Amino acid sequence: MFPPVPKTPLRSAEPATIALAASILADGGVVAIPTETVYGLAADGLDPRAVARIFAAKGRPADNPLILHVAGLAEAEAIAAEVPPLARALADAFWPGPLTIVLKRAAVVPEIVSAGLDTVAIRVPAHPVALAILRALGRPLAAPSANRSGRPSPTRAEHVLADLDGRIDLIVDGGPTAHGIESTVIDLSQGEGAPLLLRQGALPREALEAALGRPIAEGGAEAAARSPGLRHRHYAPRARVELVAREGLGARAEALAAAGVRVGVLARAPAPPLPPAIPTLAAEGGLEGYARELFAGLRTLDELGVARIVAETTPEVGIGRAIMDRLRRAAEG
Ligand code: TXA
Ligand code: MG
Repeated sequence: MFPPVPKTPLRSAEPATIALAASILADGGVVAIPTETVYGLAADGLDPRAVARIFAAKGRPADNPLILHVAGLAEAEAIAAEVPPLARALADAFWPGPLTIVLKRAAVVPEIVSAGLDTVAIRVPAHPVALAILRALGRPLAAPSANRSGRPSPTRAEHVLADLDGRIDLIVDGGPTAHGIESTVIDLSQGEGAPLLLRQGALPREALEAALGRPIAEGGAEAAARSPGLRHRHYAPRARVELVAREGLGARAEALAAAGVRVGVLARAPAPPLPPAIPTLAAEGGLEGYARELFAGLRTLDELGVARIVAETTPEVGIGRAIMDRLRRAAEG
């Protein structure tokens, strides 16, 4: 059987593709673009009709706000009511990079972007292609992860095609993404005294706390109230996901296989010794490597037709915090 012919063009990120992406975006279209975290589904962030197309293509609940991506701090100032000193310090330290800062929004930000909140989430991506498209367009880009709502985030252009073919105008292929996990989201909208970590991500919490010189509050009911996205189903492959510590991985996978369950394993290298009938993906490169391969691994095991994924847990330090957050949500299904 031949694979279906794609309806959405997928082009490698050369200058002509960047120009094409910018012109489609200027006309109100939606384009998937690479960032250093995951692929984003971008549209003109100041055009409510273009932004509405993002929600439609993803099947995203209307109460889940979008991040606005900009080329630099000056552009961020135009969409925030105010950039307080603390936000400025974090922007200096971590932009361009995988940190999203939530601030009070300026009136130019359409309601649909913020899902009716009085805040806006802003980030400067550290990816040459994303930055080139932002500069060519000269406007902020609204961009959630470029997956169908609820699915694992895409870390390769092919993942975007698998989820959104025929629903968007163009996919810009910049190769596999560097971090493989989304940006860290910090809320500074409630004043200098109350920074709140809304989402663990590619920028480790330790790095943020070192820059701020103090611990940051995280999660809980307050975060749920401030970040509607936390309430929605997320990162789920079709297979059920089970989290198991390294020592128990092999035994659990073999027990499931013996009980007739089609099981696959997602782990850190070296792979636990298992019979070849049990597909086993083992990511090289420590915790960073595991983060990079996490979403791709869930998708690959789905394609292999397993009904259950046994995934290795990690210590909750550094990017391990974000890995465990995503794994737990994937396991919730
Ligand atoms: O790395 C990333 O952040 C990627 C790339 C494409 O930039 N984007 C991404 O977007 O992960 P998305 O939409 O999948 O996740 C954005 C998260 C959601 O949990 C959303 O609820 C939250 O940020 N968010 C967006 N705007 C917000 C706001 N004004 N207040 C609180 N949370 C907000
Ligand atoms: Mg997402």
